[in-house]
Amino acid sequence: MSLPTVAQFPVARPRRLRQSAALRRLVCETHLHASQLVLPLFVRSGRKLRQPIGAMPGVFQLSPDELVREASQALAAGVPAVLLFGIPEAKDARASGAYAKNGIVQQAVRLLKKELPNLLIVTDVCLCEYMAHGHCGIVHPDQLGAKILNDPTLKLLARAAVSHAEAGADMVAPSDMMDGRVRAIRAALDRSGFTETPIMSYAAKFASAFYGPFREAAESTPKFGDRRSYQMDAANANEALREVALDIAEGADIVMVKPALAYLDILQRVKAEFGYPTAAYAVSGEYSMVKAAAANGWIDERAVTLESLLAMRRAGADILITYAATSVAKWLAEK
Ligand code: PBG
Repeated sequence: MSLPTVAQFPVARPRRLRQSAALRRLVCETHLHASQLVLPLFVRSGRKLRQPIGAMPGVFQLSPDELVREASQALAAGVPAVLLFGIPEAKDARASGAYAKNGIVQQAVRLLKKELPNLLIVTDVCLCEYMAHGHCGIVHPDQLGAKILNDPTLKLLARAAVSHAEAGADMVAPSDMMDGRVRAIRAALDRSGFTETPIMSYAAKFASAFYGPFREAAESTPKFGDRRSYQMDAANANEALREVALDIAEGADIVMVKPALAYLDILQRVKAEFGYPTAAYAVSGEYSMVKAAAANGWIDERAVTLESLLAMRRAGADILITYAATSVAKWLAEK
């Protein structure tokens, strides 16, 4: 859209519409609402466990009973959805905990469904938390070190997604960045009768240093190497559009850009190009930076958090995934 210059100063005075709160509200273009929020939560086995995550003040690894408490507080504040990550008791080379019938996420989903039937439950589908080596796919050792195998990994991801749906998940969210995983998951869900279970794909997921604190939270730091052979290079925007196009062609219902704040250009292009429901993931490092600066009294936590989320909305995000979701919902209710 090109903006015609319809008037010049002194006829045009943009400040006319900024004179009062009511006028400013009337011409406000972008709105934040609790219904747009998704709260990521970490679950591990135990009872009455709230294990703090050092780099993410206010975020905990929760036992299932505490998970229900945390989720019900979010729901009461107006947050409609949670995104679940599991920390298994044991890890192996096949990520068997990711698709075990009684895996930690599967248990948590069943419990949440029973206790909070109105909560929308989204599960992260990935293998890194369940793999002894911490990578998102099957590792094949070779002369060069190790290779993350694409196609054999797809079966495991599909099994994980189906096991989440069987437990009662309302939506699955693959975050591994293997090629073809949306297609494999869609086909497996359909074969198992879950034709109505939507897929929110981490479609443009970048290999990002902003995930640092998450890896402490999910205990999923790779034991060797990094994730650059499967996650995207931060330098690439056109490639992000191709990734999103592929996921849509494979059956993604919602597409995600991750991280959020440093990738607003990607968000804007994805929304403009495809017009699909689009999610922005304000990742762990984004959360931690705000918390750290606020703890020092350097910035206003509430104002900076709301402004950042508004920027994601302005860029095109419909859905905001943030560790601050419950606080944000409360702040919005006070406004
Ligand atoms: C799993 C996964 C990660 C995040 C979400 N799902 C970590 C990673 O890819 O290393 C990051 C979330 C965050 O930093 O808040 N693959």
